Amino acid sequence: MDLELVTRETSNDAAVTVLRAKAQLRAALERPRREAVSIGLVPTMGYLHDGHASLLRAARAECDLVVMSLFVNPTQFGPGEDLDRYPRDEERDLRLAAEAGVDFVYAPPVEEVYPEGFATTVEVRGPLTEVLDGDPARRGAAHFRGVATVVAKLLNSVGPDVAYFGQKDAQQAAVIRRMVADLDIPVRIEVLPIVREPDGLAMSSRNAYLEPADRERGVALSRALAAVRDAALAGAPLATALAAGRAELAAAAIEPEYLEACDAETLEQRSELGERPVLVAVAARVGAARLIDNVLIDPANR
Ligand code: PAF
Repeated sequence: MDLELVTRETSNDAAVTVLRAKAQLRAALERPRREAVSIGLVPTMGYLHDGHASLLRAARAECDLVVMSLFVNPTQFGPGEDLDRYPRDEERDLRLAAEAGVDFVYAPPVEEVYPEGFATTVEVRGPLTEVLDGDPARRGAAHFRGVATVVAKLLNSVGPDVAYFGQKDAQQAAVIRRMVADLDIPVRIEVLPIVREPDGLAMSSRNAYLEPADRERGVALSRALAAVRDAALAGAPLATALAAGRAELAAAAIEPEYLEACDAETLEQRSELGERPVLVAVAARVGAARLIDNVLIDPANR
């Protein structure tokens, strides 16, 4: 393994140091940690978009030192999923990270994260990983095992005070919150709102797979969620509100894998709005992409 530190500079004098090995990361963070500098971690799989940028901005504003991880984690992709074609552009990601004021990018090779003999996984059990994307007919619990394991490793490797995630992966965020609480990992988890294109499409690295016509159809997911939210807040039972959402999807010839209303924290299905926030989540294949999106309905905050 080449342990040389690489510093990338951009045209406007921004620079970021790229670390490929845990030993480098530990060495780089030793002094800041001794000096009680606050550390923010933004875990990413790269191919950065404005959703990532919002996480980097929050980390930069709130923490003394910002680490971004850049690692396409193979264990969270199922057989037949898009690991091989997942979009990658490290040069561009490093430039954007430098411009966002990131101090260190931790971009390890697969064998640094999963060396020979690797045998431990982190599994959050129960409805959190069994419903929505965790349904065995969809991505399944193995997906969240892959996410929880790599996030636990990143939290252990970096030891951040705060780690930032996007609300777009609402189920992932709920799983990570549960894991951090259950394993007493001393970190604050910040989940920031979905960032959308002007027409409403939730930003995602996977939007790169969309042909122009499918890109247009994809906007129906956010329209469907808005229809569910509006109907529910107007007093319709959730089943009726969900039917309004399904009609929006059908109008764009989209058959969802799911469009469901559940408790925002436990992800248990809900039939009424009630007191606690409701998460309405959707997943659908649109052309070559599998898209997910969601909206939170907080009755206390209409
Ligand atoms: O949300 C992502 O990009 C990934 O699931 C994460 C959290 C970086 C773990 O690989």
